[in-house]
Amino acid sequence: MAGSSFGTIFKITTWGESHGKALGVVVDGCPAGLPLSEEDIQVYLDRRKPGTSAITTQRKEDDCVEILSGVFEGSTTGTPISMMVRNTSQISRDYGNIATSYRPGHADYTFDQKYGFRDYRGGGRSSGRETIGRVAAGAIAAKLLAQMGIRVQAYTRAIGPIEISEESAPLHQPDRLNVAAILSSPTAMPDPAANDKALAYLEEARQNCDSVGGCMECLVTGLPAGIGDPVFEKLDANLAKAIMSIGAVKAVEIGDGMEASRHKGSENNDPFRMENGQVVKTTNHAGGTLGGISDGDTLRIRAYVKPTPSLYQPQQTVTNTGEEIALTIKGRHDPIIVPRAVVVMECMTAITILDAMMCNMSARLDRMIDFYR
Ligand SMILES: Cc1cc2nc3c(=O)[nH]c(=O)nc-3n(C[C@H](O)[C@H](O)[C@H](O)COP(=O)(O)O)c2cc1C
Repeated sequence: MAGSSFGTIFKITTWGESHGKALGVVVDGCPAGLPLSEEDIQVYLDRRKPGTSAITTQRKEDDCVEILSGVFEGSTTGTPISMMVRNTSQISRDYGNIATSYRPGHADYTFDQKYGFRDYRGGGRSSGRETIGRVAAGAIAAKLLAQMGIRVQAYTRAIGPIEISEESAPLHQPDRLNVAAILSSPTAMPDPAANDKALAYLEEARQNCDSVGGCMECLVTGLPAGIGDPVFEKLDANLAKAIMSIGAVKAVEIGDGMEASRHKGSENNDPFRMENGQVVKTTNHAGGTLGGISDGDTLRIRAYVKPTPSLYQPQQTVTNTGEEIALTIKGRHDPIIVPRAVVVMECMTAITILDAMMCNMSARLDRMIDFYR
């Protein structure tokens, strides 16, 4: 299957199925000399792991990463880094009744139409488990970015109709984001009061055998101006592709996004001014990019996620022989995808930014001369 690779210089290729022996990623283009351990990767994987709270699927998976290549004596060697997570909690019989019928909202029907053959155990490549490889690769990208003073942090903005308060994620003061709350709350919200309300809302949905959607946001701070290319490799275009490629993401916004279309130009433009000899913007409706190139302000991206397609209430569907049936899905599924997808968004953002920075190294002759002289 083509389409499993992403990136130009920092290039990742994810592999594996949810009920195969293992899943993983090959990362090519990582510079030599980055101190890297399995623990660096594991802390990120633990944030997307199922079975960590009542609102994620009760599959108990350890998701322990093994680094197979590209690291020697604790540092990257500049050669391809291969990472693997073994599947240890597969119960294929849970998925028996979707072998011949199509789950509404999932990729079963479209896979059959495309390939004429499908690994029906847990969704195969269209399973949320595919994101393990993205998160392992993103942990490396985030560590490299951190060495250059660039921080990437995602969190949950809304679950169903429950939104975090503006004060808990002040967009003009990203340093005040409550990262401890994001990392410790089951919803990945920075706002403990909204977290509690969202948990009650999710419990009601769970009791009704239903699922819910939500919104995630990612902030990138410390990114210098000048990263990204005009036209087809615009930074915002590549971020949209990276994040839209995550299963169940249905919309991506940069900066004020859709809201910008409801304002006048005089309200939406961000005035420039000077601060300590630097060009800065007074506001950040643009979300940190202009013309596909970073403007030095906080990069702000939102992603909207649909409700989990696999529900525990009977749904009308058809079998692969055209029989209309009422399908009751078994197996273990998240009543909401958002809290586990937050770290996936963070990682896809880190990979995209790092790749854009690497591509940017040949943009200016004066800097190339400085580098090689
Ligand atoms: C982290 C993560 C976990 C997911 N868990 C489930 C799940 O338990 N059950 C399910 O039906 N879909 C789950 N999904 C969503 C499906 O992968 C996705 O809806 C499906 O591939 C169809 O793709 P589309 O929604 O992008 O069209 C998950 C997605 C992610 C990113």
